[in-house]
Amino acid sequence: MITVKNGLYTITSGRTSYVMHIREGKYVENLHYGRRITPMHRANTDGLLDARDIMTDTDTEAALAEKYTNPYGNSVAAAGDNWCVTLDDMCLEMSNAATGDYRSLPLMLEGPDGCISTRFYIEDSLLYEGLYADSDKTGMPYAHISPDGGDKPWTLELIYRDHHTDGDDKGLELRVIYTAFEDCDVITKRMVLINDTGVTYTVRDISSMMLDLQGRDYSVMTFDGLWTRERHAHIKKLESGIYETGSTNGTSSNFHNPFVMLLKDGTTEKYGDCYGFNLIYSGNHRERMEVSEYGKTRVLTGINPFGFAYPLKPGERFYTPEAMLTYSPDGFNGVSHNCHRFITDHIIPPYFRGRKRPILINNWEATYFDFNRRKLIDLAGTAASLGIELFVLDDGWFGDRSDDSKALGDWYVNEKKLGGTLDSLVKEIKSKGLLFGIWVEPEMISQKSRLYETHPDWAVSVPGKEIYTGRNQMILDYTRKDVRDHIVDVICKLLGSADISYVKWDMNRPITDAYSKGGSLPGAFYHDYVLGLYDVMKRITGAYPHVLFEGCSAGGNRFDMGILSYMPQIWTSDDTDPSERMYIQGGTSYGYPQSVMGAHVSASPNHQTLRETSLETRFNVAAMGVLGYELDLTRLSLVDRKIISGQVEFYKKNRELLQNGSFTRVYNSDNNTIWQVTDDKKEHAVALLYKRYAEPNQSYDILYASDLIEDAVYRVRVRSIKVKVKTFGNLINQISPVYIKEDGVMQALIGKAYAMDGETEEYTVNGATLMYAGIRLAGRFIGTGLNEGTRVMGDYSSRLYSIDKIG
Ligand code: GLA
Repeated sequence: MITVKNGLYTITSGRTSYVMHIREGKYVENLHYGRRITPMHRANTDGLLDARDIMTDTDTEAALAEKYTNPYGNSVAAAGDNWCVTLDDMCLEMSNAATGDYRSLPLMLEGPDGCISTRFYIEDSLLYEGLYADSDKTGMPYAHISPDGGDKPWTLELIYRDHHTDGDDKGLELRVIYTAFEDCDVITKRMVLINDTGVTYTVRDISSMMLDLQGRDYSVMTFDGLWTRERHAHIKKLESGIYETGSTNGTSSNFHNPFVMLLKDGTTEKYGDCYGFNLIYSGNHRERMEVSEYGKTRVLTGINPFGFAYPLKPGERFYTPEAMLTYSPDGFNGVSHNCHRFITDHIIPPYFRGRKRPILINNWEATYFDFNRRKLIDLAGTAASLGIELFVLDDGWFGDRSDDSKALGDWYVNEKKLGGTLDSLVKEIKSKGLLFGIWVEPEMISQKSRLYETHPDWAVSVPGKEIYTGRNQMILDYTRKDVRDHIVDVICKLLGSADISYVKWDMNRPITDAYSKGGSLPGAFYHDYVLGLYDVMKRITGAYPHVLFEGCSAGGNRFDMGILSYMPQIWTSDDTDPSERMYIQGGTSYGYPQSVMGAHVSASPNHQTLRETSLETRFNVAAMGVLGYELDLTRLSLVDRKIISGQVEFYKKNRELLQNGSFTRVYNSDNNTIWQVTDDKKEHAVALLYKRYAEPNQSYDILYASDLIEDAVYRVRVRSIKVKVKTFGNLINQISPVYIKEDGVMQALIGKAYAMDGETEEYTVNGATLMYAGIRLAGRFIGTGLNEGTRVMGDYSSRLYSIDKIG
């Protein structure tokens, strides 16, 4: 709900209030963003007056507004000759360059004379039900209305004009736009610059949103990394001055995700004030926090000004990406829940909201480039026999692509390698009961390709300068319409040539050079590339609205809400080692729900880290995302086949919960982590308990839960697992009648056909006990006394527990 009343702009959601007013007739001052302060209507049964009858908006304003009663030493006066009002300590919603606010600024607009000093003063406002009226004209994805209706969003546009003393405003307008998504306590903000003058301006820097908060006792949590170790969570204390994060590689990047959190000191997973910020954008971005000397904190998020000098011609508008803001008094998990709900209900394509995602087998780590029809069919056949539902043909099926040095751009089927047409392969795979999916990398071009021979100018490079390649490839110039039309045409033809249900859309190198031969100017290149990408994605996914697209960029290099607006899931990381995935999926979970995270069970030793982990743990961790398998299933032992069939069966039975349940990080110590997914009614949950390292002779592990009904009675049961004989090394000879040599033939033979049953553990307990006391689980193996109750918990071990309400 948004109200504009008695000079107060109030955005209220279930648990938050965002309050602004106009100061000195021209500035918009933020009075509060945080826990709800807007009075609720109270049934008047106790004889007391309702707060709204005795407290007016003017009273609220008088209490919240800063008083400005004393002049500050050498500050610049913001209101004529009234020295008391100064901009450098005001909580502003918009601030002009070179006018006395010396903090980081949301806008740097350069006029034809080089002047950067603007006077955007508030002049008007528009309030209406629904999304921002120009959303479709921005060329960018935006948050949509929830497919199941829910609370209708409201939009407020604050309209500022660049004032001149001669009274002629010269036609430069700035709108700051707020949309309230009450159902998930999210507000979105963006800015739009309108040039109705007769001259061209250059936008040097423009944020999507600026937020000024009272106080300085904050830390920032960022999600940083690199290839194979994306989005690890880091907390940094903000100090006086500027902290900045972002990306300049043309994508949202694996270096620093656009999702960041601001935490009041002392905030934990469960308790405390926490803000979350994100962008619906896939290109260069910047998140800047500044703690002022007056002790206030400014947050700016938006496009990164690196290499940015966007010409705004007469009659043009510049739209910034839509920024997301959320607040929760319930700690990090509170913010995560808001973000998860926002992404599920307002970001991913509505068709895929809550729609079950098939369990897939991807041939990449099973075969890499070395495959033929026989291998693919065998893999698909085995996958089908294990209950897997979708076969994904990864890189190497097209052109002359026998390794990663060539052929990107040549999107025609290599029928020799596939042993026939794509259609015939798809039909054969479908006859085994599997859906079919395919990998593409449509933003790339290899120098060794037919496409490059025909169109060398379509590849991004600077004429006369050395070419930089990444993974032997160059970027296609998506700022050019002819390039985009070509790609839309070839990919749509490919998707129309066979019964394809899924597409993995990869992007394996970041952008360099930012120079177009026939498209955008250099200062506009990075942003126009993203607009071009959205144009292509919109046209292709729009033509195939029921095909499930999974975004990918060398794993998780482009994990953002822009991509999620077209593709309801993203390949979280090329790193499938479960130990690493606990950091990666755990970090990602702060801003994104598990239903958008691709998570695969792969081989051990892992291909990225060479770490050995059990098949059970690989599954348990992958089950906390959208499950797939990515290993050579045709060479599985009997035991592993049985284990995988059991996993697939468990996942299918709990799919709704695992994919769409509410995800909570319940517990985290140095060594133990508990995550839980819970259904809406709090009747069913699955909890993952993960132990990083074996602990000799330590106390019992405790299973804590969250989000349950205190008085309800639950049955808690461990998912039964198999423990491999090999786990015990030569200790097994203590119980074996014949000697089994470690790593010998006998051990291998036994291991293929036989595994021991893990512990069975079951409890009946109420929600309060589970949440506030926790179940002390059975003892771990510590070198003595192995029996059927012993939990064998070595390094990187884990269990899944089903929690079901029975009364
Ligand atoms: C990237 C992806 C992988 C795989 C390869 C194929 O690295 O992240 O999953 O598709 O490309 O070349």
